[in-house]
Amino acid sequence: MHDAVWLNAKLATMAPHGAIVDGALAVTQGRISWVGPRPGWKDQARDEHDARGAWLLPGFVDCHTHLVYAGNRAHEFELRLKGASYEDIAKAGGGIVSTVRATCAASDAELVALAQRRLGQWLREGAAVIEVKSGYGLDRDTELKMLRVARQLTGLAVKTTFLGAHALPEEYKGRADDYINFVCDEVLPAAAAEKLVDAVDAFCERIAFNRHQTARIFDAAKHLGLPVKLHADQLSDLGGAALAAKYGALSADHLEYTSEQGVEAMARAGTAAVLLPGAFYFLRETRLPPISALRRSHVPIALATDHNPGSSPLSSPLLAMNMACTLFHFTPEEALAGFTIHGARALGMQATHGTLEVGKVADFALWEVDSPAELAYAIGANPCVGVVRNGNSVQRP
Ligand code: NIG
Ligand code: FE
Repeated sequence: MHDAVWLNAKLATMAPHGAIVDGALAVTQGRISWVGPRPGWKDQARDEHDARGAWLLPGFVDCHTHLVYAGNRAHEFELRLKGASYEDIAKAGGGIVSTVRATCAASDAELVALAQRRLGQWLREGAAVIEVKSGYGLDRDTELKMLRVARQLTGLAVKTTFLGAHALPEEYKGRADDYINFVCDEVLPAAAAEKLVDAVDAFCERIAFNRHQTARIFDAAKHLGLPVKLHADQLSDLGGAALAAKYGALSADHLEYTSEQGVEAMARAGTAAVLLPGAFYFLRETRLPPISALRRSHVPIALATDHNPGSSPLSSPLLAMNMACTLFHFTPEEALAGFTIHGARALGMQATHGTLEVGKVADFALWEVDSPAELAYAIGANPCVGVVRNGNSVQRP
């Protein structure tokens, strides 16, 4: 006896066996316990739901966000519209460190309220998992505060990534190596001791940290047994993707300037690519990530919103999918895979999320569309008509 079954559903399983147009999906104790064509469903379930022909997809996995912060950077947006670049603003003391000032000044309760309100959009779009990074503290207490705040968010599963090496705080000007030592010796171990860290990230870039400093961070993560990811080759090619691959990273993210060799190294290491069309769009980048090379090398390509106040104030997985199609020439199917099976892979959650398969967590959403491709095609629509979390239908905000 299963706990519940959804009948009259179209299933976009996102697994190798593809779509099932007249499907049934059953759940038991929060896990998927049966998936297949409805005529094959002979079991019994305590609750029977009529999906009314809706498409059922795995809950979206947004594998790269900076959701916890205070303030906003609308003023910098205006400066950029007048011609300033993201790098100019960062070098002039704005950018990430301006969000750091606002985030340090905010209380835990304020940060929780702000992030939970932002999260409403993900919940309305049926997201099941969100990754949230620290990196707007850059001191021990605020980095830990951000991770604790992220862990308090409710409505979906949260993965927390430590991004202490996001930018150089003002008080360390000219002493980047000292800051990296501080992060590796004090901040990361403290966050890990409190079990606040699921993965460790860094920003490897001309305006942030070099390869050597990034490797120090990765060594410290390895020492603590934590997986790594990297903001790699977003504005220039520092060989970030290859470095991430060398450390067996879960993912290398952005990748606009990644070389063919970088892609090959990722393929060999099993490192997923995370492409972030929101930042590409908002910074009006023109250099495309090496999408053909990633496809050719069979690197799993995840997509994410990169929600943050500076380079990607984007709160919609659906819009990110549309952007990936229009800007990165993704097919709608690739876009959907980017927010499901590959997004889960980029967080090391492929055993529990990303597809509709027996044994996985019963986190899925129902969509009133004729085909799944419509989700990537429409701009600003939200045809989500139901969300199921751990096997239970939930009310969306
Ligand atoms: O992913 N690249 C670095 N981090 C963010 C931007 C953060 C910010 O500008 O506040 C990103 O684009
Ligand atoms: Fe980012």
